[in-house]
Amino acid sequence: MNMYDIIYKKREGEALSREEIEFFVSGYTDGSIPDYQASALLMAIFFQKMDRKETYELTKAMKHSGDVVDLSGIKGVKVDKHSTGGVGDKTTLVVGPLAAACGVPIAKMSGRGLGFTGGTVDKMESIPGFRTTLEAEEFINLVNRVGLSVIGQTAHIAPADKKLYALRDVTATVDDLSLITSSVMSKKLASGSDAIVLDVKCGNGAFMERFGDACELGELMVEIGKADGKKTIAVVTDMSQPLGLAVGNSLEVIEAIETLKGKGPKDITELALHLASHMIYVGEKAASPEEGYRLAKEALESGAALKKLAAFIKGQGGDPNVIDDYSLFPQASCRTEIPAAADGYVCGIEARSIGLASQHSGAGRATKEDRIDLAAGIVLHKKVGDAVKKGELLATVYGNDQTRTDKGAQEAAAAFHIQDQKPEETVLIKKVIQ
Ligand code: URA
Repeated sequence: MNMYDIIYKKREGEALSREEIEFFVSGYTDGSIPDYQASALLMAIFFQKMDRKETYELTKAMKHSGDVVDLSGIKGVKVDKHSTGGVGDKTTLVVGPLAAACGVPIAKMSGRGLGFTGGTVDKMESIPGFRTTLEAEEFINLVNRVGLSVIGQTAHIAPADKKLYALRDVTATVDDLSLITSSVMSKKLASGSDAIVLDVKCGNGAFMERFGDACELGELMVEIGKADGKKTIAVVTDMSQPLGLAVGNSLEVIEAIETLKGKGPKDITELALHLASHMIYVGEKAASPEEGYRLAKEALESGAALKKLAAFIKGQGGDPNVIDDYSLFPQASCRTEIPAAADGYVCGIEARSIGLASQHSGAGRATKEDRIDLAAGIVLHKKVGDAVKKGELLATVYGNDQTRTDKGAQEAAAAFHIQDQKPEETVLIKKVIQ
């Protein structure tokens, strides 16, 4: 078997066998297949597509390219949650405590932000003292003791995805159904949970912009999760504007805390309750998602989920006083305000542009090596559908470098669209696939 023949076969639109897919994944992971041949195959896959069987084989080969985590030391049905990535998406920090407060053990591995999307690991690192790297034993003990632990993904989980994702990022091959599915699901299946709830983002701030494509992605991921023996549910949700009001690391953690205090924006609160309802259901702590929703709402209103967040922060070495004193977070020394240029209604806020503006203000990285400013980011004062008067503030950009916050503000201002007519309301939860 050789790589030339595999590339040629896919280029001609033929389906690859399990052996050919395994040959490619193991060879690329161990370095015996060079980037240029892997790039050629990725582009052939992008144009000729993979069928469902090939996608499953690719996912399995990537899952087994590294360690498969054993979470059997944790009691109960372990549930994982994964978002396909968006802007202002701090749901893990709300959903994790909600589900854990309802008795669902959450042992989660999360990623860092790259490009216009943020990552939970960066967000958590804005909490003073918080450790995102724990030994396996400490991780498992913490889940057994507190009910929740979130750590950075180790290099040993699906290493094929690490290499392939970096290559896709620079070869314009990210937004392919089979490649996204295998990337997400290989990590999820290697992470050891018994059930998975997927938040498939749809809109201009997501990899899948069109509803039909997002549904197809959700269906394929659910099929592959189930084929691997995991209960899997996908929820297709709106990402046509940023989620909540805050974008940027410490800003988003503060918004997650506010949400658990019952004072969060409506969209993030609703999405978190909805995702938690499915996690509680697949985690066998509720007989239906409806009952799961009721339990999650109780955990929110009683303050049980907020207490769970405090225990989680403390358990991972962070300072739980941040919950009542936001001045303990890294602070921004510069801010640039964005006033509205006209009267009207906000009819669109391009999520991707806001994500990029936040990145450029210092909150994100363009390459993996970039250092980020944990205090930087954007707070929106208006969302789609809100009325606005000329001169009223649309958003404020924070950071520690005035040139960068000014640049971020210029970009963020261009992301807002104002018109005379009030736009139709956006639907947040678009579809549930199970
Ligand atoms: N998230 C991932 O982990 N992989 C992708 O390919 C896209 C989103």
